[in-house]
Amino acid sequence: SITHVILTGGVGSRLWPLSRKSRPKQYLDIFDGKSLFEMTVERNRNIADKIMVVGNIDNCHLSKAILEKTATEYVDIIESTPRNTAAAIAFAAFASNPNDILIVTPSDHIIGNMPSYQKAMDEAIDKASKGFIVTFGIVPTKPEIGYGYIERNADDVLSFREKPNQVTAAEFISQGNFLWNSGMFCFKAGVFLEELKAHAPKVYEKSKIAWEKSKDGVVDFDASMLIPSISVDYAVMERSRKIKVVSSAFVWSDLGSFESVYDYLVSIGHPVDKHRNMVIGTDIYTAFIGMKDTIFIHTDTAHLILQKEFSQDVKSLYGSLERSN
Ligand code: GDD
Ligand code: MG
Repeated sequence: SITHVILTGGVGSRLWPLSRKSRPKQYLDIFDGKSLFEMTVERNRNIADKIMVVGNIDNCHLSKAILEKTATEYVDIIESTPRNTAAAIAFAAFASNPNDILIVTPSDHIIGNMPSYQKAMDEAIDKASKGFIVTFGIVPTKPEIGYGYIERNADDVLSFREKPNQVTAAEFISQGNFLWNSGMFCFKAGVFLEELKAHAPKVYEKSKIAWEKSKDGVVDFDASMLIPSISVDYAVMERSRKIKVVSSAFVWSDLGSFESVYDYLVSIGHPVDKHRNMVIGTDIYTAFIGMKDTIFIHTDTAHLILQKEFSQDVKSLYGSLERSN
């Protein structure tokens, strides 16, 4: 059977103050009157037989509300503390049969062009059933440093490089045979666990113990604290030799920073002034004087005024605000 595993552990700190710990970006209604989480559920409804949600104890009620509203049955895996994506995916794999095909997706991406999404999924499911770990590659448009890069020859992966620096990212783009990793994966549960065991044995073992100690769908806290916090990209994708890539033609944005939110909003007709300044979150008349490429973000409890090119710095601001609380 085919299971859609939805990862929803992140807080979206790069989108503060739109995204808050109490309501991470995947649960906001700002993008289409619907949340990204709900759109993620709908997108795979006809592809998978089953839904599994891996989220944390602070946001599981938000997932639950949406899934109940849409009368969707699901398996809930609740992390008592976030241990990053390698462990989150391991829990889903432990909860499955080894031959089950898992389609693992984040819950906070914008995706368009469903026929080509469906086509990419069909291709991935076919390769996964042959024992490969499949990633979905996106043709890059700029040397973004927040993504993983896949060096490929047709569907063979020559190397996988998570979050390169600016210089390396620019080299990858000019070489021409690199794709962005979309952060979506497809594989048999058993194949993933074998590869995790081979390449990140400690993550495998500690996740297994934490999973086996879970109660009422909540993974054990003390055992979780012993799991190395490492992303699936570093733990498995950079190391495994069983990776294949499906080069995907669907529209994709991970809305990972205000820069990508800005690009997305422009593409759907959100207004900017003649110096490309943008207002998000209010209809109150707002003027910019002497500024260019600035984003003003309004929420009821906080404002952010951001020069677009500094979008990656929002994460560290979020970090320092958290520490001062
Ligand atoms: N359940 C759970 N638990 N989910 C988690 C956890 C966790 O501990 N940590 C992260 N997630 C979820 C996030 O909510 C998000 O949906 C997804 O896993 C990926 O995590 P991110 O933190 O957003 O990763 P990233 O954006 O830095 O990088 C990944 O995605 C890029 C594309 O958006 C990588 O896969 C990159 O290679 C990729 O290019
Ligand atoms: Mg992300």
